[in-house]
Amino acid sequence: MSNIKIQRAKNSKINSVDWNNLRFGIFFSDHIFISDYKNGKWDEGRIEPYNAMSIEPAMCTLHYGQTIFEGMKGFRSVKGGANIFRPDMNAKRLNNSAKAVCIPEFDENLLLEGLKELVKLEYDWIPKEKGQSLYIRPVVFGSGNFLGVTASTEYKLIILLSPVASYYAEGLKPVKIMVSKDYVRAVTGGIGNAKTAANYAASLKAGMEAHKNGFSQVLWLDGVTRKYVDEVGAMNIMFVIDDELITPSLDRGSILPGITRLSVLHLAKDWGMKVSEREITIDEVADAYDKGKLQEVFGTGTAAVISPVGFLKYGDKEMTVNNNQIGPIAQKFYDTITGIQYGEIEDKFGWIMHIEV
Ligand code: PLP
Ligand code: COI
Repeated sequence: MSNIKIQRAKNSKINSVDWNNLRFGIFFSDHIFISDYKNGKWDEGRIEPYNAMSIEPAMCTLHYGQTIFEGMKGFRSVKGGANIFRPDMNAKRLNNSAKAVCIPEFDENLLLEGLKELVKLEYDWIPKEKGQSLYIRPVVFGSGNFLGVTASTEYKLIILLSPVASYYAEGLKPVKIMVSKDYVRAVTGGIGNAKTAANYAASLKAGMEAHKNGFSQVLWLDGVTRKYVDEVGAMNIMFVIDDELITPSLDRGSILPGITRLSVLHLAKDWGMKVSEREITIDEVADAYDKGKLQEVFGTGTAAVISPVGFLKYGDKEMTVNNNQIGPIAQKFYDTITGIQYGEIEDKFGWIMHIEV
């Protein structure tokens, strides 16, 4: 039994959800988990109704962006109960992001416990259709009120839940991606490998321009030489060239270490595929394309799952990948990962935190 106190909402909003048109991050469940940091420590946390919060105009995060977040998913298991995909990895990454922007670390077990109790309470909010899930969003931010540029001494950690469908309107259909020549997202020595608001603010302008031109997202190159592939706005990127699965290594420190990326690499090695984590230039990708060796390109992410890229544009260079169709390798990763998530495929790597309800 958990000791987390629960204050229940008087009314549920669940009947106002448009289950046939969930999209992504539009609807929020009735309750949140919340913990406060004060006087040098995090409290044990509590569950309360999802409500508007009041903030002061001087609240430091509004000014300096000292905030981090995570994204993971919960699924209705075909065997009953809920399956959360690798939440221990998200808890770890949240603490790594915390270090990057001077937010005090917290007990990862407490986060997982809070998450478990919240998902148990909100089980009815987990969508029933395959392809849909309950997106779990922990967010941590400085809640102190002051104007000097220093780290806050007070913080809030909140977990909110949102029933979601696919992140891209395209679903599993291939997306169009524009390689950014004019803008960069992150640089070595910066905070590109942390899941912090600044990285997403930095991506908005290029993203908007890409949208205007009919692209779903931007593929970022490294911020220094603008030659090496980093990642896409909300997912890591993978290339299949000559039967080898290649993804940029994390060494530059400007790429978010994706948990889906890690899972795909693990599966690929388990299947005996040739796998490389290494630097790859956009010119190498274009060259492979010209030689007919670029078999597949796809993104990996919690929100995006496995998202095939059907078209890549880099300046004047246009690359249509695999006839703008999902390739067999991306499809196999998608089927395997979602199969494990929904409890249809054996979880032989221990990736699922199962919650009985
Ligand atoms: N890169 C960025 C910038 C992201 O926002 C995400 C999404 O979380 C990813 C990559 C993929 O990471 P993960 O697979 O852990 O969701
Ligand atoms: C995720 O995949 O969890 C993301 O964070 C992507 C985006 C919603 C920011």
